[in-house]
Amino acid sequence: MYPRHFISLLDLSGDEFRNLITRGIALKNNRDPDYQPLKGKVLAMIFEKSSTRTRIAFETGMSHFGGTALFLSPRDTQLGRGEPLQDSARVISSMVDGVMLRTDKHETVTTFAQYSSVPVINGLTDLQHPCQLLADMQTYFEHRGDIQGKTVTWIGDGNNMCHSYIHAATVLDFTLNIACPSAYQPIKSIVDAAGARVRFFDTPVAAAEDAALVVTDVWASMGHEDEQKQRELAFKGYQVNADVMNAAQNDALFMHCLPAHRGEEVSAEVIDGAQSVIFDEAENRLHAQKALLEFLLCKKF
Ligand code: CP
Ligand code: NVA
Repeated sequence: MYPRHFISLLDLSGDEFRNLITRGIALKNNRDPDYQPLKGKVLAMIFEKSSTRTRIAFETGMSHFGGTALFLSPRDTQLGRGEPLQDSARVISSMVDGVMLRTDKHETVTTFAQYSSVPVINGLTDLQHPCQLLADMQTYFEHRGDIQGKTVTWIGDGNNMCHSYIHAATVLDFTLNIACPSAYQPIKSIVDAAGARVRFFDTPVAAAEDAALVVTDVWASMGHEDEQKQRELAFKGYQVNADVMNAAQNDALFMHCLPAHRGEEVSAEVIDGAQSVIFDEAENRLHAQKALLEFLLCKKF
């Protein structure tokens, strides 16, 4: 029996995704300190890249559930000294109950999962950021109800977040309008697999028309910091500002996975304005990831 992993949103059915959202909302609204379904269990967390939200959400979530989270930096483990990933996956998974990885290369997570005897969670790779989408969708459902049939607009880099939005559109059945500079489009195979649910536009304003949710992310993701200047030029004109929000529905929400750069991908007016739900979104990382831990480690629903 292979363990159930969470590497991509495409690992979930629509029902499973909605159940996770419902459970995340319930865990948020009725916290019972005596409910400790992961008592004695351990989650190993391997971070090749920095993190505030993902790390704190998993550590706190494990603690709320009576378990423990181990923070493992490749710098301080044999992973950083070239121990084969396959051996590391076998060894680490023989001692813990789940493993979360945030890695540069997506294949690191898929290879680790292949050799792991316990569930593996993708905590962000160069290709995808599925945990963030659990929180984003929980936030949308809390504010507006089911997202099925709605239009969501992605503006900016066709990056890991954009790819996970494409996957969410597939699993939850919404339309995703995308406006990205031509050199920074999402990967074609991911777009093609989503079919008619994904549509491309030349300008952010055109993409935002009729949107119930507008989302963006930094112009230079982790690992691309040295391209910041060149990206600032390429992404000029791709800022989510009042003009873009005015093109969307009147009650459209604004989200950003954070950290954000005010004045670059989003104006301060929008990110700090009434339509922005970024802090609910960030807090929901905790509740959504607790629901995910229950789902994978307690085999709930
Ligand atoms: N949004 C997100 O994943 O934040 P961190 O990088 O702080 O974990
Ligand atoms: N796209 C960003 C997301 C950070 C949470 C990055 O990969 O750096």
